[in-house]
Amino acid sequence: MICFFNGQFLDLSEIKVSPFDRGFIFADGVYESIRTYNKKLFRYKDHLDRLKRSLKEIRIDFKEFDSLENIIYELMIKNDIEDEALAYLQITRGSAIPRTHSFPKEKISPTIFISVQNLKENTEEQTKGVKVILQEDVRWLRCDIKSTSLLPVILASQKATEENAAETILVRDGMITEGTHTNFFAVKDETIFTAPPSRLILEGITRKVVLEFCNKFRIDYREEFINKDHLKSFNEFFITSTTKEITPVTSIDYWTINDGEPGKITKSLQAVFKKLAEDY
Ligand code: PDD
Repeated sequence: MICFFNGQFLDLSEIKVSPFDRGFIFADGVYESIRTYNKKLFRYKDHLDRLKRSLKEIRIDFKEFDSLENIIYELMIKNDIEDEALAYLQITRGSAIPRTHSFPKEKISPTIFISVQNLKENTEEQTKGVKVILQEDVRWLRCDIKSTSLLPVILASQKATEENAAETILVRDGMITEGTHTNFFAVKDETIFTAPPSRLILEGITRKVVLEFCNKFRIDYREEFINKDHLKSFNEFFITSTTKEITPVTSIDYWTINDGEPGKITKSLQAVFKKLAEDY
């Protein structure tokens, strides 16, 4: 596997990261996951803008954005990506000795790592729908930053795996925020609900695309938090992300929704998304 690391294309076996890298020691970094359709990076500009914002919020001074897109395409060629690709890009504050919680006194260079892999499509999940579970959202109060510091999410996601669920949906103070790595949507009487942009969620690019569809096709939507105790008053649910696209949710904890059938609005949004992806 050929990756990009600090200015060089290297075989994975040649990459050496210092244990003093602040990404390793503190998870002091940010990331993006970007996929392709027809071998073209999907909504690259949106991902780049979000990356720039994350870096700014955590005060990492990285400037070499111009070459990133070409590096990803180059990695697709170097790794003989057959069909579609999933790119992972991570930037940490860099490496410094001694270990100090505050930023190092001397100026250090950020560490950048990019990998590209063949993307595994979740066709079955998308046609049949998935089970999700609810868990308390114990993350920090800056979930709008795509930080590599993901321990609460790792534990919540592992719980889903152990319960044969595809995702854990997080609940803060009784309100649904989002999934561990997806945004959450509910539909009631043809109106779509999803949590508002705030420090409590990551504004997903797929979420943004869904809301664009709503505007285009005049589907009503509201960016409002859903109370977990009111879930049963909704008719359908779905989650969105770069890798899960639009995935119907057919059960939440022990509740099977609509006899396990994906909802009508969810399916129509999936169809529009599929068309968008095919023509991309
Ligand atoms: N996760 N919310 C969280 C907390 C996420 O981590 C993600 C993405 C999303 C959906 O964002 P998008 O539609 O831009 O992919 C929402 C990516 C896929 C990841 O962790 O790899």
